[in-house]
Amino acid sequence: MSWSNTLKGELPNEKLLLLPRGFEVIGDIAILNLLPSLSDEKHLIAQTLVSHSKNIKVVLLKKNKLAGEKRIAEFEILIGDRTTTLHRENGCVFHVDIAKTYFSGKMYFERDRIVQKVNDGEDVLVLFCGVGPFLIPIRKKKDVRIIGLDNNPAACLLFRKNAEQNNIEAEIILGDANSVGAIFKKKFDRIVIPTPYGQDRFLNLARPLLKPGGTVHFYTFKKDFEIPHFKRLLEEMGWDIDYYRDCGCVAPRVSRYVFDLKEK
Ligand SMILES: C[S@@+](CC[C@H](N)C(=O)[O-])C[C@H]1O[C@@H](n2cnc3c(N)ncnc32)[C@H](O)[C@@H]1O
Repeated sequence: MSWSNTLKGELPNEKLLLLPRGFEVIGDIAILNLLPSLSDEKHLIAQTLVSHSKNIKVVLLKKNKLAGEKRIAEFEILIGDRTTTLHRENGCVFHVDIAKTYFSGKMYFERDRIVQKVNDGEDVLVLFCGVGPFLIPIRKKKDVRIIGLDNNPAACLLFRKNAEQNNIEAEIILGDANSVGAIFKKKFDRIVIPTPYGQDRFLNLARPLLKPGGTVHFYTFKKDFEIPHFKRLLEEMGWDIDYYRDCGCVAPRVSRYVFDLKEK
């Protein structure tokens, strides 16, 4: 049953039409993104949601878009008393604090694709590592050395906790990706760059850290018509594009794309 059906009879038809198509669930927390015109109904909507889904214990209302370097939003707690939860993904468990760290479960499939690409023995770096959703499954399933870098202290602390929870070893660096050249003295077989919006320059900054024959998984936000030009640009910069794909829409006409790159 669609979730708007569960609200039939509770809300007038004109309000039902204003409901979003869905909502994100992280662990046992549902995140609602409602139009201001539904603000009088927000508690009723949250209550109905919880009474129809026994796995949801907390309902948060997103108050604004993801903002700032940390990519976090403000939330109003509609049901429950916390913004922390335990989220399961790709055979691992993640402590997440939605109010303090970026996390989205929508990328689980893509993160698993990367796990499948990694070979035993590799040195793997993830810039903008957050609470560890790329690296922890990689280390859990492959015999590799992993390093994550993020400039959000809360994300690094949760990454540390998640590494312990999943019984894996990880090096976690609290630092600014703008200084990768100064931070890292070693090179990597694989670098994953889930680039923040509009900051494609990190591909060039990280390039000197790649071992010969190494692979970069570069994430970037683009409109579909920008892709042919961006592919040409990558090739001009000396990259071979092994693979690329649209990983899902993030805003009207804007998608997150991944490019698997090797140096020519
Ligand atoms: C879009 S999130 C990606 C998080 C993680 N990879 C994930 O998928 O959950 C961006 C992350 O980059 C971090 N960040 C943003 N700018 C940074 C910078 N200049 N240096 C290091 N980390 C940064 C933020 O703190 C945030 O955790």
